[in-house]
Amino acid sequence: MLHLLEHPLIIHKLTQLRKKETGTKDFREALNEIAGLMAFEISRDLPLKQVQIETPIKKCTTHELAMNIVLVPILRAGLGMVDGITNLIPTAKVGHVGMYRDHETLEPNEYYAKLPPCVKDAAVMILDPMLATGGSASATINYLKREGATQIRLVCIVGAPEGVRKIEEEHPDVDIYLSALDEKLNEQGYIVPGLGDAGDRIFGTK
Ligand code: PRP
Ligand code: URA
Repeated sequence: MLHLLEHPLIIHKLTQLRKKETGTKDFREALNEIAGLMAFEISRDLPLKQVQIETPIKKCTTHELAMNIVLVPILRAGLGMVDGITNLIPTAKVGHVGMYRDHETLEPNEYYAKLPPCVKDAAVMILDPMLATGGSASATINYLKREGATQIRLVCIVGAPEGVRKIEEEHPDVDIYLSALDEKLNEQGYIVPGLGDAGDRIFGTK
């Protein structure tokens, strides 16, 4: 299922990301801030467990998160969302999957993967600012499923209809969270209007 998180603060910060004159420092800050704002919604249905605690006043029964949370940024650009979410969920573990898109074929190529052992029983949140053809996200989901993950959410900032369709068809069990659903992909596979190459803008590589 697609969840569009169109909060005014998110829309305002996304406009900063889209502007071509926004530099590396401001781009990084706004991206992490949006990821933090999204953390609230992507964690809305996490299960809680009952715990007994003692306040300064008396003993009481209350609740804590019942599951491990594993963030899986897709390298490189997904790294730009990690701090924003761990600020709010500091106990989250972080796995990494390295994927790059071949510029000619747009096919994803995996070059690195490292996951925490608890991934099978955790709520897994894949992070990547861009959902374009959906190839990188779908390959990452396939990998996580092979590693035993069963509760996977895909958290992106900007998506194209083509990418959303691919994930919905290939992984109907995965909830997709987006801040914006844009018009389409151009001939080079970039999202229109999008925000350009997220990795290059985060790391200043162009
Ligand atoms: C970008 C982006 C996604 C992917 C999206 O990464 O961060 O991972 O493209 O495209 P897709 O939906 O068509 O697969 P890129 O391959 O440019 O690598 P980078 O993060 O290292 O720049
Ligand atoms: N990857 C990006 O970084 N930007 C796009 O628009 C599409 C894929």
